[in-house]
Amino acid sequence: MGESRLPPWRTGASADRARPVARTTERIVMRKTAAALIVLILALVACGNDGATVTTIDGAGDPVRGLELYETSCMACHGVGGLGVEGLGMPWVGSDFINTNSDAELLAFLQVGRAADDPLNTTGVAMLPRGGNPTLTDADLMDLIAYMRTLNV
Ligand code: HEC
Repeated sequence: MGESRLPPWRTGASADRARPVARTTERIVMRKTAAALIVLILALVACGNDGATVTTIDGAGDPVRGLELYETSCMACHGVGGLGVEGLGMPWVGSDFINTNSDAELLAFLQVGRAADDPLNTTGVAMLPRGGNPTLTDADLMDLIAYMRTLNV
């Protein structure tokens, strides 16, 4: 009775005595497949991590896309054509800050913004991280930086 619960290769009831070997092979194959899958998933996570792997090489952004993002996320404060809005946002046109920082430095600035009490703040108004739009990815910010550059040629 109790014996019937044992697998066939233990009871000898089956002729398939090679089964344990087959299972071991199966297990090795499965382990290898699992390892390959983990590597694949890690690779996908690394690629799909939007923004974290964005290139910060100068000039990597797309200024046309940057202008579109500008109109929806920045223009309310920085004005049409980056000319600024009194009491809201500084002009981008002629900005020493933009002109003297690399794309990577501007990206680092945009990620954190500039608080109203920051010693570098000149207007007493805060520049929020990512211009107040947390959905903007680092790639989006690079596009915005590319647009900024077109205003300061
Ligand atoms: C709610 C208003 C507001 C919005 C929206 C806004 N900014 Fe600003 N931004 C400011 C203010 C205010 C300053 C100036 C802070 C200071 O006095 O230093 C500033 C400064 C900056 C500067 C530095 C300019 C300089 O010469 O020092 C950059 C670059 C900038 N913003 C980029 C952006 C981008 C990109 C966006 C859109 C994603 C954006 N801002 C959206 C208010 C805003």
